[in-house]
Amino acid sequence: MDRKHKRCTASMMDPRVSVISGRLKGVKRVIAVSGGKGGVGKSLVASVLALILSDRQHQVGLFDADFTSPSTHVILGASKIQPLEDNGLVPCVAHGLRYMSIVAFSHDEALPLRGTDVSNVLIELFAITRWGELDFLIIDMPPGISDAALDIMRLVRRLEFIIVSTPSLLTFETVRKLVRLLADMKAPVLGVVENMKMRESTFLARQVAAMGVPYLGEIPYDPKVEDALGNVKLLRETVFARKLSEIASKLESCP
Ligand SMILES: Nc1ncnc2c1ncn2[C@@H]1O[C@H](COP(=O)(O)OP(=O)(O)OP(=O)(O)O)[C@@H](O)[C@H]1O
Ligand SMILES: [Mg+2]
Repeated sequence: MDRKHKRCTASMMDPRVSVISGRLKGVKRVIAVSGGKGGVGKSLVASVLALILSDRQHQVGLFDADFTSPSTHVILGASKIQPLEDNGLVPCVAHGLRYMSIVAFSHDEALPLRGTDVSNVLIELFAITRWGELDFLIIDMPPGISDAALDIMRLVRRLEFIIVSTPSLLTFETVRKLVRLLADMKAPVLGVVENMKMRESTFLARQVAAMGVPYLGEIPYDPKVEDALGNVKLLRETVFARKLSEIASKLESCP
């Protein structure tokens, strides 16, 4: 095998990869909701952001790309999520969103996938899902720079990133590394959302500004969120949704 061929990985030669951009060609913007650490609110931000944009008359898709701990179906209270088979998979519609989650296939049981299996399922889902015409496809990303997150970054070239962080120094340390990695990859970062803020502090806003990345705004810890999970009407009424709505306006106006 010559050097050129040695550089090709098995998944790069996978013919399914070549159809992914075609499957996404009707999608104007693909926004990855990411974060350096687990449990910072990525799934909640992704789900409620999708609802907010849909309420503003945008055509919105939501892809739960976290196969280890998918959560968006619980947040949205989306119980029937069986996609339709028609020259690929047509996502079901949940609360006005075109919605895809591994839960449609795992039936909400644990899915003990390992490295290459995760890549394989990701490639398959991106290659066969027919999103159609969308203004926004929101992707709820797996935590940090796990294999699965890196796979998505490689497979979907047009990602714009929102990074969710808590105000903690520990979370920021992982965000800093993620922002650097994305800069190296020349991936656009729309900005950082400060979530679960519990006291006045400018720590995160200052750190984010020092990295030259937009600080999109803060969302307080909202004790009403827990009882609103699974009920989109209640979720829309939370302080969480109100603050995220202000952030959504900034995203809408991005080119
Ligand atoms: N601002 C907030 N106020 C109150 N609760 C919140 C807030 N943000 C997130 N939560 C709660 O924190 C928990 C973690 O949120 P979520 O599952 O969205 O995080 P995640 O980053 O997606 O986690 P994982 O890395 O496991 O995917 C959930 O119970 C969620 O309801
Ligand atoms: Mg999550």
